[in-house]
Amino acid sequence: MTNTTTAPSSTETIELFKSHVIPNYLRYPINLVRGAGSEVWDSEGNRYLDFFPGWGCNLLGHCPPRVVSAVQEQVAKLIHVPNTWHMDIQGRWAQMLSERAFGKAFFCNSGTEANEAAIKLVRLHTAPQRYKIITFEGGFHGRTFGALTATAQPKYHEDLGPLMAGFQYAPFGDLDAVRQLVDDQTCAIMIEPIQGEGGIRIHPDGFLAELRSICDENEMLLVFDEVQTGCGRTGEWFGYQHFEVTPDIITLAKALCGGIAGGALLASDDVSPSLRPGMHAATFGGNPIAAAAGIATLETIEQDDLLAEARQLGEFFENRLLALQEEIGLIKEVRVCGVMVGAELMIDGGAIVADCLEHGLLVNCTQGSVIRLLPAMNLGLDAAEEGFEILANALRSATQSIDNDN
Ligand SMILES: Cc1ncc(COP(=O)(O)O)c(C=O)c1O
Repeated sequence: MTNTTTAPSSTETIELFKSHVIPNYLRYPINLVRGAGSEVWDSEGNRYLDFFPGWGCNLLGHCPPRVVSAVQEQVAKLIHVPNTWHMDIQGRWAQMLSERAFGKAFFCNSGTEANEAAIKLVRLHTAPQRYKIITFEGGFHGRTFGALTATAQPKYHEDLGPLMAGFQYAPFGDLDAVRQLVDDQTCAIMIEPIQGEGGIRIHPDGFLAELRSICDENEMLLVFDEVQTGCGRTGEWFGYQHFEVTPDIITLAKALCGGIAGGALLASDDVSPSLRPGMHAATFGGNPIAAAAGIATLETIEQDDLLAEARQLGEFFENRLLALQEEIGLIKEVRVCGVMVGAELMIDGGAIVADCLEHGLLVNCTQGSVIRLLPAMNLGLDAAEEGFEILANALRSATQSIDNDN
């Protein structure tokens, strides 16, 4: 593959950032300039295999051809019109989502916005004295104040108080705690069907179904934050479809538009009318570009049979990680659902991420010790093999240095 020599170097770009970009992200010292499928290149021409493309947004890899064409075509036709008009493309997108899930759609631009909409909707739909929402320790729902307060992780709340009133936190997987928290002011339970940023944590068997029962018994709503699990990542269209539980509301973003910014909330036909005219809005929500990309994403997944590929890749990663666990003993637990892959280590994962990067593989570490992979559904088994060997070697070297130190 040829080098993109016209781009400024990584060093020049880092300097530009130092002068002009607020340093609220910890960034690697690399200037990425191009991507195709599961590969990206930096301005020095180095190629990386990407097992964490777009922080979970690029579920079809970088620059998926059907999404690129759909956006190119749409951008020349109609870029943006406000939601005071009808747009057939938004209507068709909503129909496609609803046919694969349920209900009706509200569109926005990101995960946190989708969750803000859900927080409003559950309060609007239930009796006026009901305002409390139960969420779970280790969950992640976004950075705006409602979604941030819903995120029961103290490190994200530091120095930001006072937070929004009305959120209560239950420990992960603890049904008794949920039952104790419910009172006549509780309007909803909000949960990721599988915790993503929390470390690919899968709830105990039957847990989500019990939450459904608690909601039904107490006239509360069940909200699934599917920002990370949605749109095929788990090998089903939506995470809830693994657990034989249908929530009242799901929130979506990340992979929804194949890498273009977009978010959505789907609410059951019973609940959706409560988001009545004037009560909520997003200027860019459901714009024609996002809609074109969203439709092309769903079509690609369907036409290329990518749900099956996601399941197959999930099996590959699970089997390989379990074998590696036997071999090196540094892996505490392997947790996989489709192309949502977590390996909890007995050590800090920072050095593993750095070693992988040095050898041309991009991976993520969350919660300090969980190696998280969110590869594209169309990664393919050859690339999966190639990248897995790099990861396995990084873990083998770490084991060796620990052994040498002891
Ligand atoms: C489950 C979940 N919800 C919400 C969000 C927030 O999404 P966004 O960054 O698009 O606001 C994230 C982001 O990582 C997420 O994983």
